[in-house]
Amino acid sequence: MKTAVYPGSFDPITNGHLDVIIRAANIFDKLVVAVLNNSSKHPVFSVEERVELIRESVPKIPGCEITVTSFDGLLADFAQEIGATTVVKGLRAMSDFEYEFQQALANRKMNHRLDTVFLMTSDKYMYLSSSLVREIGRHGGDISDFVPLRIQKRVLEKLSK
Ligand code: COA
Repeated sequence: MKTAVYPGSFDPITNGHLDVIIRAANIFDKLVVAVLNNSSKHPVFSVEERVELIRESVPKIPGCEITVTSFDGLLADFAQEIGATTVVKGLRAMSDFEYEFQQALANRKMNHRLDTVFLMTSDKYMYLSSSLVREIGRHGGDISDFVPLRIQKRVLEKLSK
């Protein structure tokens, strides 16, 4: 069974993340979407809220078991703990590459069995990020094109507070 982990802050999950999750689920038998419990980034949504929002957004994909959880510490250790040998990341633009390359190499250095697979973003999500959603939502803008339909109301309520 091929298990992959898709890590991130997901503050909140966007349609760009969801696109990567669905495409990864068509490749792997098991996909663990892992929310980093990162107090240093001062997330707007608590880790429990972020996990819950992802669970609500992700559809059932035949042939892949998708689970959503959170983790602390190093991704390389977490991957080993859950038996994942692949990290899935989305690549949006060349500007993502250098940082992602460094992370992938560092993760493999720490866990020799861990490879990173990059999925090119769908072009309509190239510009999208969680901070863009937070910024638009905070000012009462329309986020309907950016976050999954099922969670739009909850996300807007929280951001506009
Ligand atoms: N669609 C939309 N947005 C995307 C995206 C996509 N396909 N891919 C990335 N993004 C956005 C994210 O939402 C995030 O937005 P934000 O900065 O506005 O909040 C931004 O792009 C950066 O994404 P990413 O580089 O994946 O950062 P992250 O904070 O979401 O996740 C971890 C980073 C959790 C993967 C990484 O910090 C980690 O593994 N930490 C654990 C500690 C560790 O092991 N470090 C490595 C050792 S050197």
